[in-house]
Amino acid sequence: MITKCIFPVAGYGTRFLPATKSMPKEMLPVLNRPLIEYAVEESLNSNMKDICMVTGRGKRAIEDYFDMNYELEVKLKGTLKEEKLDPLRRIMNNCTFSYIRQRNIHGLGDAVLTAEPIVGKQPFGVVLADDLCVNELGVSATMCEMVKIYQQYQCSILAVMQVPDSDIHRYGIVSGKNITNSIMEINSIVEKPQAHEAPSNWAVIGRYIFTPDIFDILRNTAVGVNGEVQLTDAISHQLISQKVIAYKFNGIRFDCGSIDGFVAATNYFHQKNKQKYADNKSSYNFCETS
Ligand code: UTP
Repeated sequence: MITKCIFPVAGYGTRFLPATKSMPKEMLPVLNRPLIEYAVEESLNSNMKDICMVTGRGKRAIEDYFDMNYELEVKLKGTLKEEKLDPLRRIMNNCTFSYIRQRNIHGLGDAVLTAEPIVGKQPFGVVLADDLCVNELGVSATMCEMVKIYQQYQCSILAVMQVPDSDIHRYGIVSGKNITNSIMEINSIVEKPQAHEAPSNWAVIGRYIFTPDIFDILRNTAVGVNGEVQLTDAISHQLISQKVIAYKFNGIRFDCGSIDGFVAATNYFHQKNKQKYADNKSSYNFCETS
């Protein structure tokens, strides 16, 4: 059973400057829920209830968000607005939260390694809150599918999706052999290749399950592309000695770390919510996505 999930949230979010100068990118709301809430909800729905945030300077708002605000509770008590907090209350009542600081922002691989003292020697999930993934089961279902695959194969699992050639240079790209229609065994992975050098157009997106040996590998991984410790390089090392599986995510993924992706996600959920309101004549109060 996987109980722990890491949320790397220490990055600078430079694509959203100046908004992210004094607020975490992960607190940007798609409708009325911040990106990090969708991500934690996905973890909870996959039964990973021990939430481990890798934070940095200027990220206090995330800690406050998942904590009680007594003044607000008193203010809303008995009013119709109280239900607006229900999805968040469900998360707070069912999860535990730990925070650890990544002192130097040295990349995603370094962020994951920072969480080792909290995770220990057990398999764990990693969710990047700025990747918002929606499939036919809803917005919080991707990790759940990956946990099922882990239970069968007991190895590291990465979510992947096909991207156009023009986007290949922005991703870690995998190649491998198909096991079923929805999973493949990876035999190579490369960070941000040029399209003509890429082994395929299957790109890694922000959902992972790792076996704990990844920590030792990360410790010995040299700084790579962009002067950062790349998770991709560690995975590349891991698959030399063991099976690593790619889960072919079948749905819509919004890159909410970019302005285009963030606006697309906002428009998508806004339309979806309006439709739901029109169908149900229910109160159009908060974003009901799952
Ligand atoms: P990104 O590269 O998308 O985030 O990393 P960023 O660096 O904050 O964004 P830009 O490019 O400057 O706009 C994906 C996730 O990994 C976290 C980020 O906070 C983000 O949620 N991250 C990245 C860390 O926690 N530590 C790092 O060293 C790098």
